[in-house]
Amino acid sequence: MVIFLLNTFIVSTLLNSGKDFPIKMLKDIKNIFIRIIKKTISFDPELIKVISLFYENGRDDGILHYINFRFCQFIYKVCHPFASKKNNLGYYFFKNKNLSLALSDIGKHMKDNIENERKQKKKRKKINEYVKLTNYSFVTIPPHQQQLYFDYIPNTLLKKLNFSLEKSGLFAECSKIMNTNFTVSQTRAWLFFTSNNKNNVPIQKHYDMLPPGTLKIMYYQGRFTEDLPALTLHPINSNPVKIVGDDPILIFNSCAIEHEAPFPERIRPTIEITLTPSVKNSYEVIQAGYMAGNKYNPFLKSTSVISIMIAK
Ligand SMILES: [Fe+2]
Repeated sequence: MVIFLLNTFIVSTLLNSGKDFPIKMLKDIKNIFIRIIKKTISFDPELIKVISLFYENGRDDGILHYINFRFCQFIYKVCHPFASKKNNLGYYFFKNKNLSLALSDIGKHMKDNIENERKQKKKRKKINEYVKLTNYSFVTIPPHQQQLYFDYIPNTLLKKLNFSLEKSGLFAECSKIMNTNFTVSQTRAWLFFTSNNKNNVPIQKHYDMLPPGTLKIMYYQGRFTEDLPALTLHPINSNPVKIVGDDPILIFNSCAIEHEAPFPERIRPTIEITLTPSVKNSYEVIQAGYMAGNKYNPFLKSTSVISIMIAK
């Protein structure tokens, strides 16, 4: 990886300061170089993705996450040499009474505080109230019109969720998909409202654009049927999978499985917990803010964003 980055730097430097070199020759070298690299890394689509991102946008966070992911997988394999059970589907339906209760309490809190949250949202104007932690990317696309986000879930409810996440054994199921341990990097909670307006568009088919190794835990409160599921997954090479039943909890690789969500029949609380690969499991539930994307550098800690008053 280091050699690759070094070579990339040399070639791009030569191209940028190419006054003393014949441009065509440099372009040929670059093309040959790219061909060699493509052949070398073609076995790893995750690596191709992060390198493309680096070339196209100059973003190095994907590369940092890739290094973190592979390193965590290596450590996991060393610590679990005989772990044979694997989940190649990329998704799993999880059931646990205590975890369901903790998630359901947050759902209830949201439904009981709709007006209050709307009032508070109007008062919050500063960016650091939308992205509450440092070292996070900023999402530029506004949330869906029919969704109301709750970034300030009471600490007692988050603590309860933290505790039940740890006790439930859910992370062990996540490890079967990605072969690594995890840490919670983001928690979003929102209400999804019904829509009678035919011009409103639900959540259409898409892949999430998150760093390598990321998994999502989804909780949908309510009763869901084949006719009106909470979510539909579209795994490659298999039939669509509808998320049905009472208060389902789903673990899934949202970057590898295309998914879509219809408008619900009644107000639907949703909780989304994003997991990032880590050397050891950490269950602390944090809310980075609904406009926060993913952690930029997985090796750095995040702290609260503090607004500074400047006297003129
Ligand atoms: Fe998504």
